Amino acid sequence: MLKLIPYPKQVTEGEGTVKTATDEFGAPKYERVYDEGMAAENYELTVTDNGAKIRAGSQSGFIYGETTLNLLTSSAEPIAATRICDGPKWAWRGYMLDVSRYFFSVDDVKKQIDFMAVLKLNVLHLHLTDDQGWRVEIKKYPRLTEVGAWRRRTLFRLKRHGGYYTQEELKEIVSYAHANGIKVVPEIEFPGHFTAVIAAYPELGCYGKGVKVAENFGVKYDVACLGNPQVMQFVKDVLSELFPIFTDEYYHIGGDEVLYQRYELCPKCRKAKEEAGAKSWAELQARFVNEIAAFLNENGKRTITWNEAVPSGKVDKSIIWQYWQGGLDESALATEINAGRQVIISSRCPYYLDLPYATNTLRAIAEYRDVPQGADPEKVLGLEFALWTELVPDQRNAEKKMFPRLALMAEKAWRGEVADDFPVRYTEIAEKLIALGADIPEKLKMPPKGIAAVIDKIWFNRSQLYWGAITNLIGNIKATVAAKKQNREMEDGKKDV
Ligand code: ACM
Ligand code: ZN
Repeated sequence: MLKLIPYPKQVTEGEGTVKTATDEFGAPKYERVYDEGMAAENYELTVTDNGAKIRAGSQSGFIYGETTLNLLTSSAEPIAATRICDGPKWAWRGYMLDVSRYFFSVDDVKKQIDFMAVLKLNVLHLHLTDDQGWRVEIKKYPRLTEVGAWRRRTLFRLKRHGGYYTQEELKEIVSYAHANGIKVVPEIEFPGHFTAVIAAYPELGCYGKGVKVAENFGVKYDVACLGNPQVMQFVKDVLSELFPIFTDEYYHIGGDEVLYQRYELCPKCRKAKEEAGAKSWAELQARFVNEIAAFLNENGKRTITWNEAVPSGKVDKSIIWQYWQGGLDESALATEINAGRQVIISSRCPYYLDLPYATNTLRAIAEYRDVPQGADPEKVLGLEFALWTELVPDQRNAEKKMFPRLALMAEKAWRGEVADDFPVRYTEIAEKLIALGADIPEKLKMPPKGIAAVIDKIWFNRSQLYWGAITNLIGNIKATVAAKKQNREMEDGKKDV
């Protein structure tokens, strides 16, 4: 078995061994044969006494053929004569990096793109905004990065943390990804996970006074005010500044975990709901989502949201759902798919990389059924693996969470299943990842086991309790009291005139 991850679809090993010629940079030389009849992303690689040859019908096909050839020839040893016919099972093989909870430098993001390229992943989803930080320069709204990109302290250190990417830096990331055959999807969260925006522009929340960039985690109560027309303008302005940067087709507008408590109190939101004739807050949210999707569509883009945006059944069927399980089980998902919805499968269990190794195990990832029972597989675009960074403060910790899991996930996305001998093949790929700068100490070549796995799980669960149950509830009670007081003052003000 060749030491490759993802393992190719079809491998025929020939007689004898060959030593491929190299160019002046030490890269293996090969003959390039363009074949327009080949499916997008497929390639054929042959290595014989006459040298190496890659046949493909697209730039991505050549990139994948080259990646395989580089992996095969990475040691100085001659390799077996080989013919590989390969191509992916899923068109969408995504990896999501949350740069909002902790900021990752341009160099760190590029390093992660290098890892993706080796593993033949083809979509980088950047989760650019959340309660804990806004990470993209928007010229029309400078306070987003002056205020919204910084928090006073973090879970790990009583020290200011933050950062953001300039528009030029983001262009650099996108062009680096494109050179590696990887598309980039920006995510701007709306209307939930919006605290950093409200800290910068309080008028965009229902009760924005005193709201700060969040220092702890969990689902926050301060969300975008759906009764304020400036909010829709804000979203459109932000997206308009992103169009020249993120030139790929897909845009993600969040939509998960929206709490409706502030809307119940907010006179502007209540009025908007009444005027729209919406039966629920979910339905009102759906109108906003549909308007943004129409705007994106006018600009040649397709919209993605998390799956619960929203359960009212009013969300436009052209919007792609990223299924992470938020409030939706597999059979409800199958019903939605069969009603015409396209989806990307990102189930929290087992596809979230931040969850403990004892929860999202290698076995769970390998055995997970990607197409829900009874659902039309044609509507499934592919798989995406997410690294949320509430507990991942830097690149070194990110790598601990990623490897070996991301390698196994990439194989699942490429083949639709995990081939035999993954641990043996992984040892080889780990060397390649280390050569690209990954910090994979010998003992981490496989996931933590025994006591280390138990500690990892306890730490995660303890932190989750800290995020949501205590601080957010107390914060919400205080904010609710303040909101009611503000409502009373407004009422009194009206009576006085
Ligand atoms: C999510 O994990 N809230 C998408
Ligand atoms: Zn409101």
